[in-house]
Amino acid sequence: MQLLINGGISPRGSIDISAAKNSVLPILACCTMCKGTVVLHNIAPFGDILNMLSLLKDLGAKAEWDNGIATIDCSGINKWVVNASYANRIRASICLLGPLSTYGETIEIALPGGCNIGARPVDIHIAGMQKLGFDVEQGENLVCIPKSPKSNTIKLSMPSVGATQNLMMAACGIKGTTTILNAACEPEVQDLADFINLMGGNITGAGTPNIVIDGGVQLHGGQYTPIGDRIVAGTYLLTSALGLGGDVTTVGVNPMYCQATLKILQDMGCKIGVGKDWVRVQSDGRLQGIGHIKTRPFPGLATDMQAQLVVVLSLAKGKSIVYENMFENRFGHVSQLNKMGADITIKDNSLIINGVGKLAPQQLQATDLRCGAAMVVAGLAVDGLSTVDNVHFIDRGYFGIENDLKKLGLNVIRSE
Ligand code: UD1
Repeated sequence: MQLLINGGISPRGSIDISAAKNSVLPILACCTMCKGTVVLHNIAPFGDILNMLSLLKDLGAKAEWDNGIATIDCSGINKWVVNASYANRIRASICLLGPLSTYGETIEIALPGGCNIGARPVDIHIAGMQKLGFDVEQGENLVCIPKSPKSNTIKLSMPSVGATQNLMMAACGIKGTTTILNAACEPEVQDLADFINLMGGNITGAGTPNIVIDGGVQLHGGQYTPIGDRIVAGTYLLTSALGLGGDVTTVGVNPMYCQATLKILQDMGCKIGVGKDWVRVQSDGRLQGIGHIKTRPFPGLATDMQAQLVVVLSLAKGKSIVYENMFENRFGHVSQLNKMGADITIKDNSLIINGVGKLAPQQLQATDLRCGAAMVVAGLAVDGLSTVDNVHFIDRGYFGIENDLKKLGLNVIRSE
């Protein structure tokens, strides 16, 4: 499958954003802890989300998606093994570690295979589970045995999003008070806590580095609408900053969640407008480079925006330096942008970008999800026809990207 992109058009219009993949995946995992049916709203059928629903079904749950609504009933779960065929399809299968641990059974989760954005260790997840009284063995599979689960204080060596979410969920199943220190502050962590609290749990402090969980309460079912996807919104807003002028609005994401990206766009010369759940980015002509930026944990610049921002910076005036601080091999877009005429040099974990003003059409490859998004953005920047292969990577985190971009007047077609 390929995307055919006829670029060089100034984007104008508004896009409604659906629930964040990185919120929905842990929330779906958390449904395994809920007694009763959970109904989730504003859910787009991203590849990763459909795979997670299949995984839940494989464990014995009922899990359906229809017209933006996911309905999950986990009363039938009778299996605590996540096998490799699922773990390879969906890296977020690791977020079942915490929820399944609450069943008091030995659980086994296959670790995802080779990765194309760098090693993704799970040592922080393991250390935290051990602090909560589980024996964890890591071979090809992660085996987690409930030796003597107990509440505790856990200080994370790094504010890992996935580990914070896993430990929050595991702690919900353990009587007593667990405190997570140096926790990740990402909005998706807070969203998971909001979901858990609505289902009867008791978590305070999510969204800050200190999270307190009063565990031992059975969660029930209910209805929930996860937060909108700040990375999807950010990607679409960037199309307004490609030197072609533009006027793009996204609806459904709190602008606070995109603040680092918006600050960069503003510094580059874009005009930013915000409301409670919308953002508008307008620009005229070629923008200014921004010196030095670095990806960091929230509220810093999200690593998931790095590839797309590099496209914008490679078109802007002057020199920019981007330091990728979160993952060690997240530069799949660079050689392809250089083939289009960009001037980007990789130096250790940094990219040195000399803005070139114009790129040329090219046959491009998505090598991972966000690289794929960046390739689409790059195709939109240039006059003429570019193609992007491996669209399945993009579909993992954007549903029908070509249809969304059409709403901005852009010309992207999917060919089978
Ligand atoms: C989540 C997001 C992903 C995003 C990332 C960073 C989901 C499903 N995915 O991934 O889109 O790119 O946050 O914002 O929400 N680390 C360790 N040991 C561990 C865990 C993590 O060393 O046990 C390191 C990682 O290698 C990385 C950093 O910590 O350098 C951040 O990783 P983490 O926050 O855990 O990312 P994920 O939860 O995997």
